[in-house]
Amino acid sequence: AGSLPLAGKHVLITSGPTHEPIDPVRYIANRSSGKQGHALARAAYEAGARVTLVSGPVTLPDPANIHVIHVESASAMLKAVEGSLPADIAIMAAAVADWRVASEGAQKIKKDGTGKPPALELTENPDILATVGHHPDLRPRLLIGFAAETQNLIDNARGKLERKKADWIIANDVSPQTGIMGGDANTIRVVSRDGVEDWPEMDKGEVARRIIARAAEALGAD
Ligand code: C5P
Repeated sequence: AGSLPLAGKHVLITSGPTHEPIDPVRYIANRSSGKQGHALARAAYEAGARVTLVSGPVTLPDPANIHVIHVESASAMLKAVEGSLPADIAIMAAAVADWRVASEGAQKIKKDGTGKPPALELTENPDILATVGHHPDLRPRLLIGFAAETQNLIDNARGKLERKKADWIIANDVSPQTGIMGGDANTIRVVSRDGVEDWPEMDKGEVARRIIARAAEALGAD
């Protein structure tokens, strides 16, 4: 407790999008900025924790005093996360691509002159949160996931809580009109086995500080 409630604790955070290569010059990506994940890493450090931040490609600077591991693809993110365990708290804020191209082209794919576009075969990526949630011996005491949705926010979040064995899912509506993805503010709903809490719109830094304060409390309580 006190002003450094996470002193002596290791907090592992994922942030940003992943890039899934198509060929040496192209990739599949998403609109995640990494702002919320990076803010969580800073807040955890300010609460006294040792912090590991596994970040996909973002334009944000590395936060000071934090061990940052830079990755591009979901597979590399999973490896970095597994290699960073054990952790007391893990917060998976990255917007991991659900799919990658089944076989990455060794050379740049060229138009073949027929006017027929190439078909990209996709394959599912490993689920990092679920892998950590089901870890036989290194599951963090508190495991938090995010759920960015454009519909059925709470039902989807509850499903993820169970399937991925998370303790909390931070659900947010990323429909374009909310401005959340890439923006500075966030409106979240905290879904746990105790129910759903609606938080008012806040700056992503404030959201991060409150999630970290809540996480420190939860660790202290069990
Ligand atoms: O299923 P969905 O992608 O919406 O789940 C979101 C949560 O799961 C986030 O916490 C995200 O970081 C995590 N996730 C993951 N690995 C994936 C897909 C999602 O860790 N391949």
